[in-house]
Amino acid sequence: MKFFVDTAMLSEIEWAMGIGCDGVTTNPSLIKKAVDALKANGENVDMMSYIRKICETAGRCRDVSLEVVSLESEKMIKEAVVLYNKFNILANNVVVKIPVSTASTSHYEGLKAMSALQRKQIPVNATLVFTPEQALMCGKLGAKYVSPFAGRIDDMLRSKSGIVFDKSEYFPEQGIRMDDNGIVSGIDLVRKTVAILKNYGMKTEVIAASLRNARQVREAALAGAHVATIPFNVLEEMTKHPKTAEGVMAFAKDVVPEYRAIFD
Ligand code: G3P
Repeated sequence: MKFFVDTAMLSEIEWAMGIGCDGVTTNPSLIKKAVDALKANGENVDMMSYIRKICETAGRCRDVSLEVVSLESEKMIKEAVVLYNKFNILANNVVVKIPVSTASTSHYEGLKAMSALQRKQIPVNATLVFTPEQALMCGKLGAKYVSPFAGRIDDMLRSKSGIVFDKSEYFPEQGIRMDDNGIVSGIDLVRKTVAILKNYGMKTEVIAASLRNARQVREAALAGAHVATIPFNVLEEMTKHPKTAEGVMAFAKDVVPEYRAIFD
């Protein structure tokens, strides 16, 4: 399984690449968070050079997803070309994120854009995927990745059930009471998406997105997702176990001087 880091914060990207992450996913909300942090720090925001740094920090063969901002296919195509032409040259790693469907007059804008980008050979990450059918449509259009948003399905199901929850809380794959047209949890969405694309031998890879905790990453891996895009705090959570911490302390205490001398 590949791990992408789900952030636009340069410091987090640097750190994640240093521990073997395989790529980066951003979206306009994550870019806003990074820009707000720069501004709060009194720094000037030069978006062009900031995104250049993201692509260079990720480096070759580590895909960086950058999202379009418009909702009409023609504009999305233009923006995708801009993103690709401006930034792919740096490390050959740009993938353009296109929402699978839009809330504008036509629901097909995203798909139309994906179809055009396939012809232009610009790699696409189909985003805001909430059903396996959406993923299948994007797979047929040759999307490099589809991104089912696991956590947001869990949020919706918990809200519908009247459950008060914290977004980071674990939600079981088998769900609770509610379903969304047969989807009982975010991981159920990921599992069914993986299975359907596999049924037809599609090359499209599934990025389990909107992951909120370590156990959800584990379940996305069990469900066969090709990639998990993981927020920085969840990456950290994944390293931890109290028995690991206890063991490290115990081993450190037991180091005899004779053994330590080997390293002098
Ligand atoms: O990769 C998608 C992700 O950034 C959305 O996450 O936690 O806002 O649902 P979240």
